[in-house]
Amino acid sequence: MNQITSITDNIYWIGVNDRETELFEALWPLPKGVAYNSYLIDGEKVAIVDTVKNSYINSYLRNIKGVIGDRPIDYLIINHMEPDHSGSIKAIKNEYPNIKIVGNKKTLNFVEGFYGIKDGFHEVKDGDILDLGGRQLKFYLTPMVHWPETMMTYDQQDKVLFSGDAFGGFGNLDGGIFDDELNIEFYEDEISRYFTNIVGKYGPMVLRAISKLEEVDIQTICSAHGPIWRSNPQYIIDKYVKWSNQEAEDGVVIAYGSMYSNTEKMVEATARQLAKEGIKNIRVYNVSKTHMSYIINDVWRYKGLILASCTYNTGVFPLMDNLLRFLENKKIKNKTLGLIGSYSWSGESRDRLKDFAAQINCEPVHPIIEMKCAPTEKEFDDCAILAKKVAEGIKE
Ligand code: FEO
Repeated sequence: MNQITSITDNIYWIGVNDRETELFEALWPLPKGVAYNSYLIDGEKVAIVDTVKNSYINSYLRNIKGVIGDRPIDYLIINHMEPDHSGSIKAIKNEYPNIKIVGNKKTLNFVEGFYGIKDGFHEVKDGDILDLGGRQLKFYLTPMVHWPETMMTYDQQDKVLFSGDAFGGFGNLDGGIFDDELNIEFYEDEISRYFTNIVGKYGPMVLRAISKLEEVDIQTICSAHGPIWRSNPQYIIDKYVKWSNQEAEDGVVIAYGSMYSNTEKMVEATARQLAKEGIKNIRVYNVSKTHMSYIINDVWRYKGLILASCTYNTGVFPLMDNLLRFLENKKIKNKTLGLIGSYSWSGESRDRLKDFAAQINCEPVHPIIEMKCAPTEKEFDDCAILAKKVAEGIKE
């Protein structure tokens, strides 16, 4: 039995699950794997929408032939060129030499750049329609969701939106592929971790794309990753709007770097005081142990952020620096921010933390703590004041 699944009478999921890759983009852990969703539209003419990572080409071709047998494919529509989706373009072109590759100007430029393919293109512009014979596809250019060429494809007959990375998430599709076949709670953190780590930087562009689609009657969302949203597509649209606006919940993340527990002692004292102030969601992360993708996800989720770091070789602790760079790059904003630095003979950790606050345009609460060697009662008292101020800040 093959794994082909009908989405509507003429639209099929032909994607694959990746349970092998450790790090998505060689950066982001995949404890629950990731699905590369591809779709086949079987009209008078046959089209496929996006491909899959090239290491899955055999399963992918099997899925395609499971639907159309030895019939040819007329069009390969490329919504997004990142190689987790475009990786099989060359193999598809070899298998179906007469296929027309459909994309906008930037897409086709990437197709040549990545795969050396120079012809057999069908270029589309924003709002263009492709007729598959009784079934029309409309293209919406949605740049920077998540690369400059990204676009979405809308099947006007079945009211299905093929959205590329947008509305996607990490996690394999283990049997069920539709939102109503799955326990979405199982996927929720992986969907938000996908958003915050991969797409979140481009929140304003996501909002622009959603606004552009406002008038479109979307019955089903077929993202390039994660569940297919057919029973309640508004659920994932609302989540993406909330996350793109960086609307956060009550709670505080404390991320710390500490070599010999002296900085950590202040973190413990601060966390305890936050609890006394009535904060129930307190997430304490050691940057040496927890992968930054999980920390970034919770930083996105909660209003409060406290960063505590020792100094290392006249700079901030390197793994803290890594986290700060990613948070700066992702344009994190609207945080109630507390800073705790520590040092033994030179105090650069606090300087870097203050620089981070400036980079994200956030005035930290006072005191900005700087501890020498090991905390004394004075530092613990300052931690209590800091926790109180952060708690007040997130309740405002
Ligand atoms: Fe799933 Fe931006 O690639």
